[in-house]
Amino acid sequence: MSDADDKHSDCDNPLRAGEDVLLVDRKDREYLRTLTPGKTIHLRSGRFDMDDLIGLPDGSTIENSGGEAFLVLRPTYAKLIPHLPRKAQVIYPKDVGLILLWGDIFPGARVLEVGTGPGALTMALLRMIGPSGHLYSYELRQEFAEMARGNVDRFFGPAPQWTLKLADIRNGIEERNLDRIVIDLPEPWRLLPEAWRALKPGAVLVAYVPTVLQMKQFVDQARVSGFTAVEAMENLLRGWHVEGPSVRPDHRMVAHTGFVITARRLAERESSTLPGEASDDDTD
Ligand SMILES: C[S@@+](CC[C@H](N)C(=O)[O-])C[C@H]1O[C@@H](n2cnc3c(N)ncnc32)[C@H](O)[C@@H]1O
Repeated sequence: MSDADDKHSDCDNPLRAGEDVLLVDRKDREYLRTLTPGKTIHLRSGRFDMDDLIGLPDGSTIENSGGEAFLVLRPTYAKLIPHLPRKAQVIYPKDVGLILLWGDIFPGARVLEVGTGPGALTMALLRMIGPSGHLYSYELRQEFAEMARGNVDRFFGPAPQWTLKLADIRNGIEERNLDRIVIDLPEPWRLLPEAWRALKPGAVLVAYVPTVLQMKQFVDQARVSGFTAVEAMENLLRGWHVEGPSVRPDHRMVAHTGFVITARRLAERESSTLPGEASDDDTD
């Protein structure tokens, strides 16, 4: 029996060579590292041999050569995203939560997302639709498409249910009968006519925008472009410090990220005005 076998004899899913783990120090600082056989890493005042970590159970504690203890964890989705290699802004997990649930992404769904960026949302969508669904991702720039491909390969694994398209969405959506579309672009209202054509009747359209003016424009135009039940929301997440008698909100929080807007595709594009919606006179 090898050393590694020895270490994980009571564990059916030990840490494997090649996977990424979070090393967490006593002050909760996190370091994402790949378990590369034969490699030594230096962290704070000491070093680790990666070979000593490979084969350990997830959730183990180890010491570096300086005697400092670190927790070794497989990263959850929420812990991974802040460490994701990126060149564009990603959607943060607190907003991804809204998109997945209010966007009603379900196992087996045929979903389209645009743009892909570094692929943070992509991985959450892939998890939610499962192996029986299909995700189409449109990305304009090759460097982002390559980055998304690398991140999905590395952090999600094989994804045969994912079609990544290097394409400008302004040239049209090829897919039809989609269950859901998620748009993360600066001017999502420009896609409304094409999204209506690509979605099934009753399907959910989601847009993510950072500013109030973008939100307002999208909501107004969705209501006159064959969509209804439009809802706009944001998520303010406040962590709490819970240490002995010191139980209080964290001193810092992220005050603003973006707005999530959801809408349902009407069966007919031209419909009579519904409660709370703009009149036909507002149509461009
Ligand atoms: C903010 S990033 C998306 C981040 C992504 N949602 C995530 O969570 O990782 C927006 C992406 O849209 C892409 N994009 C912009 N215009 C586009 C277009 N017309 N067609 C396709 N992709 C586009 C950009 O290249 C960029 O990578």
